[in-house]
Amino acid sequence: MQIDNNVSGQPFNTFGINVNFTKLITIEDKSDLNYLQLEKPQFNILGGGSNVLIKSDVALPIIYVNTKGINILKEEEEYVQLQVAAGEEWHDLVLWTLDNDFGGIENLSLIPGKCGAAPMQNIGAYGVEIKDVLHAVKAYDINKKVEFTFHNQECNFGYRTSNFKTNWKGKYIITDIILNLSKPGYHKKNISYGAISDVLNNQGIGDPTIQDISNTIISIRQSKLPDPQIIGNSGSFFKNPIVPKSQFEEIQSLFPNMPFYPANDDIKIPAGWLIDQCGWKGKVVGNTGTYKNQALVLVNHGNATGLEIFKLSEEIQKSVKSKFNIDIEREVNVW
Ligand code: EPU
Repeated sequence: MQIDNNVSGQPFNTFGINVNFTKLITIEDKSDLNYLQLEKPQFNILGGGSNVLIKSDVALPIIYVNTKGINILKEEEEYVQLQVAAGEEWHDLVLWTLDNDFGGIENLSLIPGKCGAAPMQNIGAYGVEIKDVLHAVKAYDINKKVEFTFHNQECNFGYRTSNFKTNWKGKYIITDIILNLSKPGYHKKNISYGAISDVLNNQGIGDPTIQDISNTIISIRQSKLPDPQIIGNSGSFFKNPIVPKSQFEEIQSLFPNMPFYPANDDIKIPAGWLIDQCGWKGKVVGNTGTYKNQALVLVNHGNATGLEIFKLSEEIQKSVKSKFNIDIEREVNVW
């Protein structure tokens, strides 16, 4: 365990916002958690900092989980079970599984952040969510000082949410994730979403390997989403709103080209499209703005404060509300 006082938070959030962290506690080994001494049971947990907007200096202690390790727990004919430490980078794990020809998370290529944060918001992209391959989550109860294992069903996964993000917030520190991934010959490939099959067809790939799918997704993501090393951002800033069918039909009659996806009895509308229609795409507002290729991504053009980005997000919410009468909810966690 390492404890640093008054450090710059800039390298720890993909928006690149320069704030002060009063106390940064780095966990290198999960046994460190047993020695953690907090004056109050209040703290923030930081993973890769890729889904957080930090509005101002942080006085609460920050627990930064940087544990490493990918281990095969068991191997059957059809699948392997992997235990992955919370501090592993998610995309490094994806690359490791591809090197070993283990399938299931190739559609989640290039998602920034660490493995411990992945189940929190049930990361998802291109037709796959982590809940589809997740067997269990190990998490340390900070008050009881003991590690629990929560099986998939207990985590209450939904669209970009889980108990870790809602009911259990601040109670547990995720220590490991346990995934069941397919072995060669048993991969269930998912290429139905959006542009994936078009891109593969254009390359003349009829029966893609999981490596081909990953390469395709990496190229689609790179064309739409800014690299946080170059332009600070946290991916999709808002969730795609889900509206009742009646409201959808009303809006569709006015905007017949609106993209949409069925979501049980309701309809999911891409927030990026709604924001784009309000004229925000690529707009620069002071040091902030939205990305030129994807209006759902708020960006830091350099030296933006968290408060500036937060205010921009409020303006965007207001315009979507006034044009479409839809409330869009932030996907990122605001500190
Ligand atoms: N669209 C526009 N204008 C825009 C952006 C999008 O018209 O500025 C339209 C697109 O043309 C398309 C639709 O909106 O018809 C959906 O866009 P896209 O396929 O880019 O996906 P999304 O719904 O905006 C979601 C996830 C992404 C994920 C992609 C692919 C959410 C909040 N976002 O974006 O996840 O990569 O689908 O699966 O669900 C993230 O969570 O950080 C993230 C990047």
